[in-house]
Amino acid sequence: MAKVALSSIAKSFGATKVLDGIDLDIADGEFLTLVGPSGCGKSTLIRIIAGLEHQDAGSLAIGGSRVDHLRPHERRVAMVFQSYALYPHMSVGANIALPLTMARLRLWQRLPLLRLLSAERRAVMRGIESDVAAVAAQLQLGHLLDRKPAQLSGGQRQRVALGRAMVRNPDVFLMDEPLSNLDAKLRVHMRTELAELHKRLGTTFIYVTHDQVEAMTMSDRVAMMDSGAILQLGTPSQLYEKPASLKVAQFIGSPAINLLPATVAEGGRVELFGRPLALSVPLEPGQAVTLGLRSEALSLVQGEPGGGRAWFSARLRRKENLGSEYVLHFDLAGRDATGVTMRATPAVAAGVNEAAEVTLGFEEAAAHVFAAAGDRVEPRGQGAATASVVPLRAGA
Ligand SMILES: Nc1ncnc2c1ncn2[C@@H]1O[C@H](COP(=O)(O)OP(=O)(O)O)[C@@H](O)[C@H]1O
Ligand SMILES: [Mg+2]
Repeated sequence: MAKVALSSIAKSFGATKVLDGIDLDIADGEFLTLVGPSGCGKSTLIRIIAGLEHQDAGSLAIGGSRVDHLRPHERRVAMVFQSYALYPHMSVGANIALPLTMARLRLWQRLPLLRLLSAERRAVMRGIESDVAAVAAQLQLGHLLDRKPAQLSGGQRQRVALGRAMVRNPDVFLMDEPLSNLDAKLRVHMRTELAELHKRLGTTFIYVTHDQVEAMTMSDRVAMMDSGAILQLGTPSQLYEKPASLKVAQFIGSPAINLLPATVAEGGRVELFGRPLALSVPLEPGQAVTLGLRSEALSLVQGEPGGGRAWFSARLRRKENLGSEYVLHFDLAGRDATGVTMRATPAVAAGVNEAAEVTLGFEEAAAHVFAAAGDRVEPRGQGAATASVVPLRAGA
């Protein structure tokens, strides 16, 4: 049993408030990711869970028991750092074994001369060796145990750091940006490895990253943080499909969500670039709102589609070829907006030339509406609208 419960955790460094009353319950066996921009307090929070930092207020329980008074090694947690923190002069095997050597051998048995003599020590060492071998086999490091860290690739070093955490058989794994020193391709590979490792071990993982793709691809749930607070906690799809605020919408998803300035007209009807949409919100007329449209929500349509369908005109600035698809970048001439991106198949992209004036259409039900303060606003009757929407097609 290793659920983790954080209650009103607060922390300041001097006059700077870094964590502002964090409440978070992490289920036993869950893969939970803390994601957010640099400096938002992710590392501070995970270090408090590890016991490497102490909170000013609030409490922390692991497996149902308060651990606030426990030192790091007494908490049954293991932390994997971005820097791996491997000892360069020690072999891979000795690096992985280190936490066990420290825990199982008494100090005098670790001293060079005396240690030769003890039969007891030899028995303990055999136990450690077999534990290390089991972990090394799980991580495919068995053939590398005699090497030094410098003789390993980045991904192998990362696995050694993981092995050193696993060998302690912790109740909770804590990982702070463990992939950020790896090159892009290896990072993608290690995402899969970590997700599979989590599945195999069934242990609670708390993972810190500033990379929303890592958060989205590996986690059961994601806690999006900003300025020392959790903005939204939910599954990756909940954060993507129903971002609770503009900040979450902007952080999650690549390409970044398109944001268009809109206004509220009579009856709460949303107007985009002076045209009313089939979208009304419970807000007073005259208010400014922001319309969020994912790049896959847009499509090319011919002329003014009519029939009450939503559209606006744009000018193709650039086609970005990603191989399997394109990201088309459009300018909105004369509009108070920075531009929009649209995902397109290679065939659709081939049909439009750079600098061409086009009409972009979208389904109103796919639009996210955010009030001036950034909070998500649920449109009226959204459920009904979703079912009756007619998909837009090029040429419609
Ligand atoms: N030991 C420290 N002393 C003073 N300020 C710190 C210390 N650790 C972190 N901070 C500050 O706390 C804020 C949050 O840092 P951190 O938790 O490392 O953020 P993140 O991991 O999300 O990038 C930052 O503004 C950082 O400068
Ligand atoms: Mg950090």
